[in-house]
Amino acid sequence: MSETALIDGVIPRAAVVKRAPRIGAEIRDIKLSGDLPDEIIAAIKGLLLDHKVIFFRDQGHLDDAEHERFALRFGKPMLSPTLDPAKGTMSILEIASGGFRTDAWHIDFSYLDAYPKTLLLRGAIIPPVGGDTVWSNTAAAYLDLPAPLQRLADDLWAVHSNAHDFAVFARPTEAEKRVYDEALTRASFETEHPVVRVHAETGERTLVLGLYVKRFVEVPKHDGQRLFDLFEAHITSPENTVRWNWKQGDVAIWDNRATMHYAVRDYCDQPRVVRRVAIDGEVPVGVNGRCSVARIKIIRQPPAPSSTS
Ligand SMILES: [Fe+2]
Repeated sequence: MSETALIDGVIPRAAVVKRAPRIGAEIRDIKLSGDLPDEIIAAIKGLLLDHKVIFFRDQGHLDDAEHERFALRFGKPMLSPTLDPAKGTMSILEIASGGFRTDAWHIDFSYLDAYPKTLLLRGAIIPPVGGDTVWSNTAAAYLDLPAPLQRLADDLWAVHSNAHDFAVFARPTEAEKRVYDEALTRASFETEHPVVRVHAETGERTLVLGLYVKRFVEVPKHDGQRLFDLFEAHITSPENTVRWNWKQGDVAIWDNRATMHYAVRDYCDQPRVVRRVAIDGEVPVGVNGRCSVARIKIIRQPPAPSSTS
């Protein structure tokens, strides 16, 4: 095979299949593991920056330990600050039906200042139909904005918080409320982010909004809601998205600095379990060079064993 047919000299171009014009590519013929050569990891990272989310089918050989070993090649895994450390010391987070629901557009952990830069998600139990995930390209969404709206976004800052607003969701169950209450009891976070961050590796301008936004800085609530809806409409427009239909053993890796995502909740009571490793990110920087600022950062002690059953 000629050198021009290879990406970084290691991955055949034919093995990279775009899944939508603006975001998302499936990478074929690679068996993921913690032992992959550096040049293949570097090529995968390059593809991730190009496509924002990349997918791998048939990775059923990965167990939690190997998933974590592979994830370590992308940086330092982050332990979820809102979960009870007594429930496990690994960086793997299990997301199961009945737990956290994320059927709203969001950036993972955007209520933190240095929120994760990369997420690696593995499909463990997947319903036969439904349970897809949709990602949007927030760099493309920024480019879609007319120049005056780009300038407006460049100047805006938003407060992100993990204080959950149940009004976002229709009919939350009691179990879901308990999950969120427990997380909120454990930790409270509030961070001011620029609405436009400059990507540390690509230099692209990306929009930083989603579920955890509580308000815009120095903007009244009702004006802020209109601005939020305006920018979110560009982020979630179908042209900027890709939808992945999971199969058991799939792996999806996304750049959390340049995407938002939405877990489609259409699988009723069927079991669905995915496992995720989050990789530490850097503090976002706005277009004027100002960094995000954590306003509230409280991690409380886990409850005494006697208080749980
Ligand atoms: Fe998420």
